[in-house]
Amino acid sequence: MCGIVGYIGHREAYPIIIKGLKRLEYRGYDSAGLVLYDGKDLKLCKTKGKVSDLEEKVAKEISTEGHIGFGHTRWATHGVPNDVNSHPHFSNSGKLAIVHNGIIENYEPLKKELIKRGYVFHSDTDTEVLINLIEDVQKTDNLKLGKAVQVALNQVVGAYAIVVFDVNKPDELVCARLGSPLAIGIGEDEYFVASDASPFIEFTSNAIYLEDEEMAIIRLNKPMKVRKIKDDSLVDPYVQELQMNLEQIEKGGYEHFMLKEIYEQPNVIKDTYRGRLLANKGIIQMSGVEDNLEKFTNAKRILIIACGTSWHAGLVAEYVIEEFARIPVEVEYASEFRYRNPIINKDDVVIAISQSGETADTLAAIKLAKENGAFVFGVCNVVGSSISRETDAGAYTHAGPEIGVASTKAFTTQITILTLIALRLAKAKGTMNQSDYQRYLLELEMIPEKVQEALQTNDVAKQIAEIYKDVPNALYLGRGFNFPVALEGALKLKEISYIHAEGYPAAEMKHGPIALIDEQMPVIVIAPNKGHYDKVVSNIQEIKSRSGKIIAVVTKGDTQVKALADHVIEIPETSEALTPLLTTIPLQLLSYHIAVLRGCNVDQPRNLAKSVTVE
Ligand code: M6R
Repeated sequence: MCGIVGYIGHREAYPIIIKGLKRLEYRGYDSAGLVLYDGKDLKLCKTKGKVSDLEEKVAKEISTEGHIGFGHTRWATHGVPNDVNSHPHFSNSGKLAIVHNGIIENYEPLKKELIKRGYVFHSDTDTEVLINLIEDVQKTDNLKLGKAVQVALNQVVGAYAIVVFDVNKPDELVCARLGSPLAIGIGEDEYFVASDASPFIEFTSNAIYLEDEEMAIIRLNKPMKVRKIKDDSLVDPYVQELQMNLEQIEKGGYEHFMLKEIYEQPNVIKDTYRGRLLANKGIIQMSGVEDNLEKFTNAKRILIIACGTSWHAGLVAEYVIEEFARIPVEVEYASEFRYRNPIINKDDVVIAISQSGETADTLAAIKLAKENGAFVFGVCNVVGSSISRETDAGAYTHAGPEIGVASTKAFTTQITILTLIALRLAKAKGTMNQSDYQRYLLELEMIPEKVQEALQTNDVAKQIAEIYKDVPNALYLGRGFNFPVALEGALKLKEISYIHAEGYPAAEMKHGPIALIDEQMPVIVIAPNKGHYDKVVSNIQEIKSRSGKIIAVVTKGDTQVKALADHVIEIPETSEALTPLLTTIPLQLLSYHIAVLRGCNVDQPRNLAKSVTVE
């Protein structure tokens, strides 16, 4: 929910921190701040607003020298976004500084106790409570920084990724995690700490990801020490070689990350099935599935848990898995599942879907499913993320970094991988005949080309956006495999353009939403020439006779819908079950152009953050 970057080494820390914060702004962008230590003074600068605002303030207010420091870009949880609540926070003595991502749930009783002991608080944050608790522990028991952090964290309930600095230990950073990610980049005589590896990829490709309940003491010119927070035991951390490169996390000539990511879809879908789909040989192979094939094929039920766009991908998977492999599927919002005492059986397979692999509700739902004996399979994009490590097995989507807050390529790659799983299970269970199976494999292999063709709808989508950019509401309708696409289309529009939009199964319209239709209301109907085409045509007639404006996504060559709709966007032909991979594309483009025309911040919509690591 917030982004953290820290540095200790021989370079100037400021450029690394400021650039790193810009890369992490997708995690939160309502305020930002940093501290730098130059060997004499601990310099603090923080502000409400974006990292660029911080940069301007730094230029006016502090000198940027220093080889040690850290910064933070915030998505507010406790306390409104303002200068005071921004991180870093200092302890009362002014000697300790902290940045924090997460929530300290028991901050109120801790704060009351600290107030009784004479501590004064300047902000409304839980973080300021934590840094004073560390100071209190340090003073009371005369402890070194690392030990004091450890003792304090053992009193804390909640989630955190923290970095702490003590002016009395100016060659040391202490960091720790529980429930919020923290990566440590290991360079030559230098260390980097960050919420993900993007701030330091140009400096080192070696990193460790702290596990939950681990802390690291990073000292200049000394080997790093990683310990368990609970029992103080030393951990031998696994040093990973990073796969990310700089190009992947830059805009590459596009105006926005979202547009770049929309256009990356042909390539990343190919990356998703590369090595897994051998269409000519009739083979689908994914080690996470092969190693657990019996669990999947014996499953009485597949439960899918996810949030937001990933939940929509789960809904598409429900249609595809039930159709292909004939296994009952239930799709649950992770946030509901975790709190509603769900019935989980040992022979259930749970699939958790998450782009970031850090969504707090999905993580908690996974833990619950595991406690109840279910086998949990993860579909994640971010390699090494918490969900990918918490699950029993899984498959990465290989979409590459998704920086735009609105999920685009993550969605289509999730559908791709889930379709591969459905086909593999259909083969193993014998629920699909060989010729259909083979046909699907070949069609799936052609999807990237067809997505490329679907991207050519960009100009039409832009023209339609010009016409409808000022509407207050929009309705999205789809049936069958494309009902979840209607939900996703509506989510994309509302999150980046702030237009109220709703997605519905087309046939449900007459049970209520039809009352909304008048000549002002654009209705986006997903109407490929397969499945329930005739029924959707009837739904279009119903809208038409109430003067609604129809924007239809149709298969190339369609004439019937074309004759009724105000605007059509054509996508290439494919099998019904694969249409979501194509119908999604013009809806992403439409939302994008409407948001741009409305002057919205497409990549960083208001109130949102890329990974929701708080519940
Ligand atoms: O990282 P995850 O896939 O777990 O994230 C889930 C949702 O927070 C995410 O899909 C969110 O809804 C996006 N803003 C949608 O564009």
